Amino acid sequence: MIKISPSIMCADLSYLADEIKSLEAAGADYFHIDVMDGIFVPNFSLGLHDLQAVKKMSRIETEVHLMISQPQDYIQLFADAGADIIYVHPEACTHLHRTLMKIKLCGKKVGVALNPGTSISVIEEVMDIIDYVLVMSVDPGFAGQTFIPGAIDKIARLSEGISLGTRDIKISVDGAISLSTIPPLYEAGARIFVAGTSGLFRDDVDYSTAIENMKNCHQ
Ligand code: DX5
Ligand code: ZN
Repeated sequence: MIKISPSIMCADLSYLADEIKSLEAAGADYFHIDVMDGIFVPNFSLGLHDLQAVKKMSRIETEVHLMISQPQDYIQLFADAGADIIYVHPEACTHLHRTLMKIKLCGKKVGVALNPGTSISVIEEVMDIIDYVLVMSVDPGFAGQTFIPGAIDKIARLSEGISLGTRDIKISVDGAISLSTIPPLYEAGARIFVAGTSGLFRDDVDYSTAIENMKNCHQ
């Protein structure tokens, strides 16, 4: 079953409460919170206060996508602010295993985000800790980029590897998600789709219709 995770940085932040309420009513399954530090990626986005605000307004699970250097120093802060799933990028961590254990010990779901240029082999030794893998189908840092099709084959290989193990690791995908990119990604094994400017936050889009269409577009 397809789950949709609206990318809150793409919402109208001047009406955040209305946006959260509408997205929840429209069938959002998660809220995706993009955090950038201007170093790991050349941009800034949401932060701790935005996460706290979203948590205050909704009970939907939040997935916090940390596009920041040395994320191990900030795990506790985001855990305390209400993150349910925390994703880190392996390239940003000096000690990936230690960072993932920190997320786990905070009682949060452990996530790893893989850039388009990053091989799935970097998570081979930590698969026993991971709960979610976020496959990037654009280079992280900006909304509205072009879909990188290599994500499809990467998800198929990842999915095959996961099926050989005993743990239920979920595959999420982030970047240029729309009615045209969901079907091949779903077919490959992705189940959670981060919806940003490509598929959801567009002028004149009705959130309920857009989310329903995305959830049904793979048949
Ligand atoms: C990219 C962000 C995404 C982005 C995706 O760095 O992580 O969450 O908002 O939305 P699109 O690609 O549809 O604008
Ligand atoms: Zn993201």
